[in-house]
Amino acid sequence: MISPSLLQLAHDQPAAIRAELLAGLTAPTAVIAPKYLYDALGSRLFAAITELPEYYPTRTEAAIFAEHQDSMAAALGPVQTLVDLGAGNCEKAARLFAALRVQRYVAVDISVDYLRDSLQHLQQQYREIEMLGIGVDFSSSLHLPAEAGAGPRTLFYPGSSIGNFTPAAALTFLRQAHAECRGGSLLIGVDLVKETDILEAAYDDPLGVTAAFNRNLLLNLNRLAGTNFDLADWRHVAFFNAPESRIEMHLEALDATTVRWAGGERRFAAAERIHTENSYKWRREDFAALLAAAGFSALRHWCDARGWFAVFAAHA
Ligand code: AVI
Repeated sequence: MISPSLLQLAHDQPAAIRAELLAGLTAPTAVIAPKYLYDALGSRLFAAITELPEYYPTRTEAAIFAEHQDSMAAALGPVQTLVDLGAGNCEKAARLFAALRVQRYVAVDISVDYLRDSLQHLQQQYREIEMLGIGVDFSSSLHLPAEAGAGPRTLFYPGSSIGNFTPAAALTFLRQAHAECRGGSLLIGVDLVKETDILEAAYDDPLGVTAAFNRNLLLNLNRLAGTNFDLADWRHVAFFNAPESRIEMHLEALDATTVRWAGGERRFAAAERIHTENSYKWRREDFAALLAAAGFSALRHWCDARGWFAVFAAHA
């Protein structure tokens, strides 16, 4: 049996994670980084979100890839190494292996444990592709180890995860991505501005899956920071902030409540919120300008017929 190589880079230590979380909780406006939405249950709830009728990004992007993969392959040229950022179950990249004629596949995710089984399975299907899994948290800076490949790399960043960065952080990330391409290219999915009711339904579905995904963050905080959040005290809030062009997710206290942990506490007034995620929605021309500002050129993009989602290809 051929096995993929696996490499885990250093994790943050539990004490550092706790300190970061408590600093966010005690800030004047409480804020927690969205990466903490993805514990084991949170990752499953996110997978369920992608199946919801209201959550259009995943299936819209998949349809764009299915329809335009040959022109994407022509725009990108030969793909020596495909680096999949936030690879998870590796499914999205695997669907493009044939069209892009991928020779080497590097799957990157926060923990190599998320990649092990999927990569092992994929390696048996694609024996001719050399595979490597890298566990690294690239949410605050993208620096890949030398093992990611010496030659030009095609960075693959689907799912509109770039939308979870502020525009300034997205520019920094794309500049780092540009350097990591080593003269190769980028293939990236971006969610676009559209009617508010469509956006808000995608982040506040009637079944309550997104609410569960957001509220589960409190259970994760109880585990990681030793807090005593009671789920019954908190509700999910999501809305489109049009001036900022972003969906905001918050957890809102139903009544005045005090959250405690060893050595501290935070009082919340009724209706006070913890900001848990931003999901920026881009206009095509603004995202093209952002890619150009990060150093990318020869931009092309493909969209669905409704103009809801775009996939950009660009050269580094
Ligand atoms: C992962 N990310 C692109 C999702 C989004 O749409 O911003 C996360 C998400 N949050 C709520 N629903 C989905």
